[in-house]
Amino acid sequence: MHKDDNRPIGVFDSGLGGLTVVSALNRALPEEDILYLGDTARVPYGDKSVDSIRRFARKDAEFLFERGVKILVVACNTVSAVAMDELRKHNPGAHILGVLEAGIHAVLATNPAHVAVIGTRATIGSDAYRRGIHAKNPSIVVESIACPLLVPMAEEGITDSTITRSILDIYLHNVKRNPPDTLLLGCTHYPLFKAEISSYLDGRTAIVDSASACAEHVLGYLESHHLRATKEKEGKNSFYVTDLHSTLPQLAARFLGRIPERIEKIALPDDGF
Ligand code: DGL
Repeated sequence: MHKDDNRPIGVFDSGLGGLTVVSALNRALPEEDILYLGDTARVPYGDKSVDSIRRFARKDAEFLFERGVKILVVACNTVSAVAMDELRKHNPGAHILGVLEAGIHAVLATNPAHVAVIGTRATIGSDAYRRGIHAKNPSIVVESIACPLLVPMAEEGITDSTITRSILDIYLHNVKRNPPDTLLLGCTHYPLFKAEISSYLDGRTAIVDSASACAEHVLGYLESHHLRATKEKEGKNSFYVTDLHSTLPQLAARFLGRIPERIEKIALPDDGF
């Protein structure tokens, strides 16, 4: 007989986009407490060097592990693409899951012959999604496209206008011409474009949202490792950021679906740079 594990789940992202993962986790696991860290002082990570992303990720993880989280969920696709080995090396034995592995799992479940992956420059430059998909099935055709403008557009709320269509056309015209079976939204911000991308591709492509895929993955992992909280209780969310400006609560609401009750500004341990 296993005891319930009521320690919180730690989730971090470069900024607030990872709140799409928190929102999916709240739906899938309403009894779990969540500590969320958004490194809003240093976002975006997607245009930074691999060295910097790894360094930032180590500090984000350290903050959450110091607060006793039972599992660390890397909600940032960029970190998940370039820093998982680093995080596992620095936190041996810890439970660490990345949104990227969840996305790959969800893509393979659609049984595709042809896949398109979209993400930040760092995610696409790492080639991690293609490598992960090919490790399981090398016969799948994978095309990867960086869509850097979609992050600031999501933050500005430009997710369903004529401008959105024009930008999608710049990045995805080849995808539209030769539609894949499955398109993976490989960035925290992209679930906000799901409906628009689906309609741009005339509904002919299955769209996999890595935030929902991640929540399903976490649920399965907690279950199989006997880490689930007491099912009858109501989970609490705590939100931490490294920079807090006046419009941040409204920005958070775009990704979370509601304004967080409280957001606390914290300082990460000094990394000597
Ligand atoms: N969170 C990042 C990701 O999922 C997007 C924003 C950034 O570039 O930091 O890749």
